[in-house]
Amino acid sequence: MALVGASTTLFGTPALAANHQIVKLSKIKVGGTYSFQLKNGAPALLFRTKTGVFAFQTICPHQGGSAKYFAPRKLIVCPVHNASFDPFKKGAVVAGPATSPLPSVKVAIKGDWIVVL
Ligand code: FES
Repeated sequence: MALVGASTTLFGTPALAANHQIVKLSKIKVGGTYSFQLKNGAPALLFRTKTGVFAFQTICPHQGGSAKYFAPRKLIVCPVHNASFDPFKKGAVVAGPATSPLPSVKVAIKGDWIVVL
């Protein structure tokens, strides 16, 4: 499946979530995504929509693969066994062997920043 390789250019510059700040709000347009790391080192992906922001850890709940966002289908896909998750339905499993959704990360807009809560 060629979906995952094509998605790697869709991410922003990885950033470490130091002091709970992920990225300045002005750096992400509405409809955009931004990859970052949680303080524990876990990879995560942030989404900005017209109504706000939300994020998920991108470690696949099936067997720990590294899931990536595939924007053309609006799905987060794990390349290991092709599990797919819908970030716009709370990370729900759409296809594949995973039985639980991607873990959500609580984020919010605080002033000029998007932060981890
Ligand atoms: S590890 Fe992700 S689908 Fe199996």
